[in-house]
Amino acid sequence: MSKLIIALMLLISNLVYGAFPAPATSSKDMVVSGHLYATEVGNNILKAGGNAIDAAVAVGYALAVVHPCCGNIGGGGFMLIRFANGKSTFINFREKAPAHININQYIDQQGRVINDYLSTGHMNQGLQKPYLAVGIPGTVKGLNTALEKYGTKPLATVMAPAIKLAENGFNVLPGDASIFKLQEANFRNEPNVAKIFLKNNRTYLNGERLVQRELAQTLKNIAKNGSAGFYQGEVAEKIVTASSLGGGSITKEDLLNYTVTEAAPLQCDYKNFHIITTPPPGSGVTVCEALKILEAYPLRQFGFHSAMGSHYVLEAFRFSYADRNQFLGDPLFVANPVAKLLSPSHIQKIRTRIKPDRATPSSFIHFTTEGANTTAYVIVDKEGTAVSVSYTLNDYFGAKVIPGDTGFFLNNELADFTIKPNTANNYGLYQGWPNLMAPNKQPLSSMAPTIITQNNQLFMVIGTPGGSTIPSQLVNVILNVIEYGMNIQEAEDMPRFHMQWLPDRVYMEPFTFSVDTQRLLEKMGYQFQLGSPYGSLLWGAVAGILKDPTSHLLNGAMDSRRSNGAATGE
Ligand code: GLY
Repeated sequence: MSKLIIALMLLISNLVYGAFPAPATSSKDMVVSGHLYATEVGNNILKAGGNAIDAAVAVGYALAVVHPCCGNIGGGGFMLIRFANGKSTFINFREKAPAHININQYIDQQGRVINDYLSTGHMNQGLQKPYLAVGIPGTVKGLNTALEKYGTKPLATVMAPAIKLAENGFNVLPGDASIFKLQEANFRNEPNVAKIFLKNNRTYLNGERLVQRELAQTLKNIAKNGSAGFYQGEVAEKIVTASSLGGGSITKEDLLNYTVTEAAPLQCDYKNFHIITTPPPGSGVTVCEALKILEAYPLRQFGFHSAMGSHYVLEAFRFSYADRNQFLGDPLFVANPVAKLLSPSHIQKIRTRIKPDRATPSSFIHFTTEGANTTAYVIVDKEGTAVSVSYTLNDYFGAKVIPGDTGFFLNNELADFTIKPNTANNYGLYQGWPNLMAPNKQPLSSMAPTIITQNNQLFMVIGTPGGSTIPSQLVNVILNVIEYGMNIQEAEDMPRFHMQWLPDRVYMEPFTFSVDTQRLLEKMGYQFQLGSPYGSLLWGAVAGILKDPTSHLLNGAMDSRRSNGAATGE
């Protein structure tokens, strides 16, 4: 091919974005989050000389105000950091089960799991024990620990924008209004929630100003007293009181004893890319395992969403989710066989089980009985330090309760535990004994904030919400970039497909496969369902930054599925 043609192709590929918006570009820094106002907060901290960790903490607190379905101080999550010098670390602030939890409370006299104690809507069904779903929140200690260890700005400085947004209010955006609308009945059920989130007995509309004075007061408490402003004193007392009235067992000691852990990230290679991701209790293992299985197949030659390429991706999901669901749990409680699952012999054994022309029935992978909603954001600063944060209340607005007049929602993260092995949870996941609920234990999470490098240079920073679909979404997007050459916005916006071993089903968004491709896959034995395992038609909201290896420009994109999101750099 002549140099002229190559130059023309490069020019065209830089100019043409098909039907997709162009990613945001910057030669300096980038912030991508699920809410425009939170992204602005991150941009301003970077502009004022803060580093990516300062910005990540500021965005985390800001999302707790402007994106209260998902951003939070009453939940938990993970922060993955790759510093400009190439070193990386992982901060785990996942919620923990209270010390006095009793798994038998979640099982009825017939031995069935009482899912209503753990899932959305329990209040509508008259089961007034919402605090049975609540884990000890980790977000405040997690964000504050990250700031103390790796930030440069005082806590009060990075929290100031969030406090202002809560105290003075913000104009509700269309995406906020639609999320609120879905929760109208749940908000009405709790007088202290209704007081804040309903106006004239209905949810806030686009353009109306939502003020959260009580949340502002709680945030001020934290800004003044650090983590003690949440885990001790009046906020802690209000959580304990509300828990005891609401069927839970959270004690002052549970809050006082909550600890954040720091660990080495999980690392693996896909071709000449290096993946830095989330160790258990997160699900980076599943991202790595699926990619390792797929390394052997010529996906690019098969073509994007071709029957053959999709077959191998689905099989990689089936086997890697089967391993995740059966063998992983809180590393402080179980020995996770991560090295074995990613070993060449295990990966090769899986490949020999994958037939080129047939779907593997999930029932052929035996269940071992031996003993949406999250938000993700990504930031790169001018030095090149990259941060990917995923944190969550689990369902939208978590347990849908606010303790007293604290103004913040508490999670329903305990729903991520196995209550009874081989019984589906809210995400339809059939999980094993390593993830059994136990006192002080962290439930296994699907969250997997991830950073990718190539030749030791930053290449990609991503994360997404979406419960059980998180690892498969990330693999979809990574393949779209690495195998199919899409830019970050295209890669995120393309329709996605998902399979999680059980149920033995392919979940797909609208327009994922052509009718003839779907027929070819059905002939191989696949069964399809439109929508996610938890009922939504679309899923996820990937936040991503791609660093162009040639121009070194940062390309940022927020998934178009989250209309309020924004990617901006200086
Ligand atoms: N609560 C969703 C997850 O952590 O997987």
